[in-house]
Amino acid sequence: MASAVTCDQATLEGDTSQSKLTLLKQGAEARIYLSTFMGRSSIVKQRFKKSYRHPKLDAKLSQKRTGQEVRTIVKCRKAGITTPVVYFVDNDTHSIHMEYIEDSLTVREYIQQIQNSGESNDDERLVSLASKVGTTLASMHNVDIIHGDLTTSNMLLRQPYEDSRLIMIDFGLSQISHMSEDKGVDLYVLERAFLSSHPNTEELFKTVLDVYAENYKKSGEVLKKLEEVRQRGRKRVMLG
Ligand SMILES: Nc1ncnc2c1ncn2[C@@H]1O[C@H](COP(=O)(O)OP(=O)(O)O)[C@@H](O)[C@H]1O
Ligand SMILES: [Mg+2]
Repeated sequence: MASAVTCDQATLEGDTSQSKLTLLKQGAEARIYLSTFMGRSSIVKQRFKKSYRHPKLDAKLSQKRTGQEVRTIVKCRKAGITTPVVYFVDNDTHSIHMEYIEDSLTVREYIQQIQNSGESNDDERLVSLASKVGTTLASMHNVDIIHGDLTTSNMLLRQPYEDSRLIMIDFGLSQISHMSEDKGVDLYVLERAFLSSHPNTEELFKTVLDVYAENYKKSGEVLKKLEEVRQRGRKRVMLG
């Protein structure tokens, strides 16, 4: 469950109002704070300064990723793909105020929970999840959205998890492209993340790809590209 990892009160970098926020998650590029926006629970995702980057380049990159994240969220929602609602964007502090998906689990946490539970319907729950992932990827690629950082931590499920739609997040590296190569790489990134985060899920990932293929009419070309990207990956490993 997405609970506050710390109750430390923090202030948003560059925010002159100095309002106190609770840090929920600390990532490599961004911090996620719990907040409220016009009476609703919200999160603030702030891309913080990286001291090893030139300040101008750093600000430019943060602005670009913040802008891309918001644009793609809007495009997803228009296409019926579930994402948090964006409430407000602050370009001065490179922060996005958006809907807080309360009582949610990342797909990563959800799979781990099932793999540790040992209940009789575990397989059924995993297949149903794989099917959600496959259809959601198909819907995204159908409107040329390349996520750019597909992992099981960038997908959320709301309670009750079995009934929840997949909620896609973290679009800072996204792009719009009709190229099968880009879509193949998107799937490859997820495949690598999936198989390295979750042991013994090869069959499950096959189900993701089968459902993707059933729901996306140009999937043949993309899956061909996926195979090419895999082979390049293998060659790279062999050459060291
Ligand atoms: N709208 C949200 N509601 C609830 N939890 C969220 C939300 N957005 C992000 N999170 C949590 O914060 C984590 C990091 O957010 P993310 O946007 O993926 O940033 P990062 O670029 O650091 O990976 C997610 O994996 C999820 O656990
Ligand atoms: Mg993320």
